[in-house]
Amino acid sequence: MFIDPWSSQQFIDYNRLRREFGIEEFNFKLPDSQKLFRRNIIFGHRGFDTVYDAIVNHQKFAVLTGLMPSGKMHFGHKMTIDQVIYYQSLGADVYIAVADLEAYATRGKSFKETLKIAEEEYFLNYIALGLKPEHSQIYFQSLRKDVTDLAFIFSKRTNISEMKGIYGFKDETSLAHVESPLVQSGDILHVQLDKYSGPIPTVVPVGIDQDPHIRLAREFTRRVSFFSVQQTDNGLGIFIKQDNNVAELLNTVSANLKKIGIKEIELNIPYKALYIKNFDFAKQSVIEKKLLEIEKQEGGYGFYLPAATYHRLMSSLDGTRKMSSSVPESYISLSEEPAEVKKKMMNAKTGGGSTIEEHRKFGGKPEECSVYEYYVYHLVDDDNYLKEVHDTCKAGTRLCGNCKKEAIEKINLFLKDLKEKREIAKEELDKYVRFN
Ligand code: TRP
Ligand code: SF4
Repeated sequence: MFIDPWSSQQFIDYNRLRREFGIEEFNFKLPDSQKLFRRNIIFGHRGFDTVYDAIVNHQKFAVLTGLMPSGKMHFGHKMTIDQVIYYQSLGADVYIAVADLEAYATRGKSFKETLKIAEEEYFLNYIALGLKPEHSQIYFQSLRKDVTDLAFIFSKRTNISEMKGIYGFKDETSLAHVESPLVQSGDILHVQLDKYSGPIPTVVPVGIDQDPHIRLAREFTRRVSFFSVQQTDNGLGIFIKQDNNVAELLNTVSANLKKIGIKEIELNIPYKALYIKNFDFAKQSVIEKKLLEIEKQEGGYGFYLPAATYHRLMSSLDGTRKMSSSVPESYISLSEEPAEVKKKMMNAKTGGGSTIEEHRKFGGKPEECSVYEYYVYHLVDDDNYLKEVHDTCKAGTRLCGNCKKEAIEKINLFLKDLKEKREIAKEELDKYVRFN
């Protein structure tokens, strides 16, 4: 199995995906959790533990995500912003990248075009959906040198064959396309530079299609770090990855660990290693944190390994692929006219029986219904009501025609309100958008 972030690949078996790519199951209990979390739409994660610890201990953390404004902003994009807004409510520093370099490289969009779409469509929606200006910034990849500088530094840590292995790039692939995931790693890690939030647990909420980029960003983080930590037979090993100042660095680590009460430390300088015997692994994250501080003091980045969460991707209205901004029939946009919403919904693929009689007799299949997806992801906050929709569908007492009508009403009501909020948001843009 292969994940291509730039294709319209639709995933069905999320458990298999998790197993195959080593993604962990998401089952953290979050405060006031939002429906996307409660309903397992966010089904997996990498390294979310550090972020979770920060949340429950009321410590600083950041959320970063990026969107490629290449068309209309639709309900699939909304999901990502909903999560960002939720993390903001928990106190996160918020960063949203406008992936204009990626749009240029992979969709052939000019910077001017992207800017226009971003300003007229995306930003107003972020604000209208509830993003607050405090501790949040929207920026452009092309204008943020810290991002592209990091991308360049990371590019020294990989090579063409690795990029081909991850993405299936061909000899004909343009170098701009090859660069865009490096820029995305720059996005993800630049928030931890001092000029921004400084070293801090960071979560990147994305659709599962972005996993290759996440793996790459995490790999770069490891490659630029000074230390690697591994469990050994009877304890913990801390290894220095570079060649200069090894002895000094090991002594500094040793002194720092003693200060926080770690005993039975043994240095092996030729091996560039420090071993802790009889180690209590419950303390591993404390040690890892300490090492990041030391790395920072000694002139390194001190980056926390960025975490990611993965959400299921909404399917296209005809149920055959993932929702995609380049295929207008596949989605409902956040600025869709009521008549258009009606038309698109009426044509949507349902999980209903082929005739009303059959539907009444055998019931519907909500899990195969693209209308039901809207109920679950967006339209119904109340879990009990959602269950009712689900159960009456299965029982065959809820008919698709009525069910669609109800969805259309809910969507149009929501979009009307959003439109009004977008008007107000026009005055607010300066508080959010950065041009550097
Ligand atoms: N590649 C993402 C997309 O196709 C956009 C993106 C750019 C992004 N930078 C990011 C997503 C950083 C998450 C984090 O939509
Ligand atoms: Fe989908 Fe509603 Fe029909 Fe069930 S009743 S299949 S949820 S449209």
